[in-house]
Amino acid sequence: MIVAVGCDHAGYSLKRDLMELLDELGIAYEDFGSYDTAPSDYPDVAKEVGLAVAKGDFDRGILVCGTGIGTAIAANKIKGIRAAPCQDTFSARMSREHNNANVLCLGARVVGRGLARDIVQMWLATDFSEAERHQRRLEKIAALERSRPRKPKEGKSAT
Ligand code: RB5
Repeated sequence: MIVAVGCDHAGYSLKRDLMELLDELGIAYEDFGSYDTAPSDYPDVAKEVGLAVAKGDFDRGILVCGTGIGTAIAANKIKGIRAAPCQDTFSARMSREHNNANVLCLGARVVGRGLARDIVQMWLATDFSEAERHQRRLEKIAALERSRPRKPKEGKSAT
C-alpha cells in the first residue's frame, strides 16, 4: 500500500507525527506538503492528494487540516474520491467497511496525537466489506458525480 499525505499549516505538526507512524508501520507514503507552518489554503493540498488517489497512483490519502472538514469538502469534489472526516476510531472503521473511503481527513485542532494515531491505524487496517448493499450505495454516489441539475419544466417560471 502507498499513501498520499498532505496538510495545511494547521495540520503540519500532526501530519509529521502521522508520517512517523507510517514509518513505524512500514507503510510507504509520499508527502504532498505543506512543508512548514506558513499559512496555506487547504483546497490546494486536498486537490493534489485527491487527484493522486483518484488517478490510481496511490491507494489511499490522508489529509490533515485544523478540523478535517475543509480538506474533506474539497477532496470530495474530485471524481472518485470518498473522503471521510473522522474524529474517532468507530467512524474510521465504518468509513472503510461501509463507505470504502479512500481519503481520511483529520482535524489537528480536534483530535490529539494519540487518538489520531489510533484512527489512522484503524482506517488503514480496515477493508471495505464488499457487501452488495454497500456496493450498491457507492454506485449511487458515483452516479451523483455524473448527474446534472434537472431543467425546469417549460412554462413554469421560477418563483
Ligand atoms: C485554517 O485556519 C483552518 O480553517 C483549516 O485548517 C481547516 O480547519 C478548514 O476546514
